[in-house]
Amino acid sequence: MESGKWDEKYRATDRLWSVKPNLFVADRLSHAKPGVGLDLASGEGRNAIWLSELGWSMTAVDFSEIAVERGRAVSDTVGFVVADVLTWEPSITFDLVLIAYLHLSEDLLGPVVEKACAWLEPDGEIFMIGHDRSNIEEGHGGPQVPEILWDVELIRSWLRRLTVIEAQVVRRPVDTDEGVVFARDTLVRARVSGRRGPV
Ligand SMILES: C[S@@+](CC[C@H](N)C(=O)[O-])C[C@H]1O[C@@H](n2cnc3c(N)ncnc32)[C@H](O)[C@@H]1O
Repeated sequence: MESGKWDEKYRATDRLWSVKPNLFVADRLSHAKPGVGLDLASGEGRNAIWLSELGWSMTAVDFSEIAVERGRAVSDTVGFVVADVLTWEPSITFDLVLIAYLHLSEDLLGPVVEKACAWLEPDGEIFMIGHDRSNIEEGHGGPQVPEILWDVELIRSWLRRLTVIEAQVVRRPVDTDEGVVFARDTLVRARVSGRRGPV
């Protein structure tokens, strides 16, 4: 989806995503040692803002001006950037790169992930959370287009020389009028093994 369409989606509501960080981001990273982090396709910045409150020095990139304006209105600590993640390049390296719910076809997402891995410091981590392909049949909500949904093995194949810490489908509780239902997310975390350089 183009940036203009995302702007429309954001304009249609006061707040598109939750203020709170993603459940798995909060669970896995709340005790991580703060460092320099990047949130790619950060939306309104819920995860980047939460990490910056924990002491992380965060850059957050999204191509929706509306989403970024909202992030900037909440945090003057996160360095928000309006840019397309397909072409944006940082001038620094990171201890953490987070990609949350960025749904692109695999020929577009793969190169973004591979580039992001090359921006990691030694011991740096890439943290990916997104709607799993099985969510269409077995989960709840999210895009209903299999070609842009995530798959653990596909994502692992882009991480090459990184050490995978965690790679699984996880169940995320969602409150609905009918009670709590479970969405299915792909969660993949991988780390550079104390070595700088292209991966
Ligand atoms: C589902 S939202 C997730 C936002 C955020 N990561 C979160 O978890 O709250 C997807 C975001 O990806 C952004 N996005 C999609 N394609 C992008 C691209 N090529 N470059 C930058 N941002 C992009 C959209 O603007 C939107 O904010």
